[in-house]
Amino acid sequence: MQSKPDGEFSPRQFIEEAVRQINRTVGAGEKVVCALSGGLDSTVVAFLLDRAIGERLVAIFVDHGMLRKGEAAEVTALCSNRLRGRFISLDARERFLKVLRGVTDPEQKRKIIGAEFIRLFKEKALSMGDIGYLAQGTICSDVVESGAGPGGAAIKAHHNVGGLPAELGFKLIEPLRELYKDKVRLVGEELGLSEAILRRQPFPGPGLAVRIIGEITAAKLTILQEADAIFCEEVATAGLSEKLWQYFAVLTGVRAVGIKDGRRHYGEVVALRAVTSTDALTAGWAQLPGALLEKVSQRITAEIPAVSRVVYDITSKPPGTIEWE
Ligand code: XMP
Repeated sequence: MQSKPDGEFSPRQFIEEAVRQINRTVGAGEKVVCALSGGLDSTVVAFLLDRAIGERLVAIFVDHGMLRKGEAAEVTALCSNRLRGRFISLDARERFLKVLRGVTDPEQKRKIIGAEFIRLFKEKALSMGDIGYLAQGTICSDVVESGAGPGGAAIKAHHNVGGLPAELGFKLIEPLRELYKDKVRLVGEELGLSEAILRRQPFPGPGLAVRIIGEITAAKLTILQEADAIFCEEVATAGLSEKLWQYFAVLTGVRAVGIKDGRRHYGEVVALRAVTSTDALTAGWAQLPGALLEKVSQRITAEIPAVSRVVYDITSKPPGTIEWE
């Protein structure tokens, strides 16, 4: 299922072809389980499947605790409404923290999160019976960066690419594998997804786990979620959300001296990252207004006791990557 070159892409035709393809693949009595992250890609996949096979879809959302502040609740509200009885939400926050205890290597974090995800899915899906397929929101840039594309060298192990179906026991459906994000957005629009989902920033499967340098703990997750929420709020207030590809906070693992309430304070360093891009393969650091950065810095250091300092990342991709890990 090849998308046409830029300018010729028809989301309607893509949907019709994807629906036909899903129906050709999935037998009449078979069910498909969809790994729903609440991001654009997996939501588009869920709604494509909803259109293709209706009641035979089961969408499972795993809250691994590495999501942005308030996002799990948002996803649950949104999907339980549109997908009704076919949407299952699993609270696995404790379980993920446990398997990630002591892990500091980013690729290890990805692998552990990917494996735990699959284990949970398998447990849940097997308990439901009749499920033959797993549908995922893998898109073209995931495939390219995992080195799974032709002649590719692995940059990062995207947990949703390659190697999983065999251990899962499910056959894999990836309707968006040949599309880049801009096309996925057009397909989502055509499927009538809400603006909130269409505008949601790309978010890595391992989530905040790759935005906390070093070991992940519940306390660090809370600090990062709070800092990230302040940054997102201020970017939205400044009316800049639409102009940016991704913007987020990173807990750098570095500590620095600051002054709080007139006293020396040795606290966490938060980095802000904002980039412009069209496909995530290359990206430019966003030249955000100084006043916005200053406001964010003031709010983060004032509202989050553990943070002493805020820095802004001015590295483009390449040579950097969008995420820090
Ligand atoms: P990088 O950091 O490689 O990111 O420039 C490119 C795009 O991919 C996202 N990303 C991931 N997505 N699993 C994912 O599903 C991952 O492990 C992962 N790592 C990075 C990143 O947010 C950006 O949009």
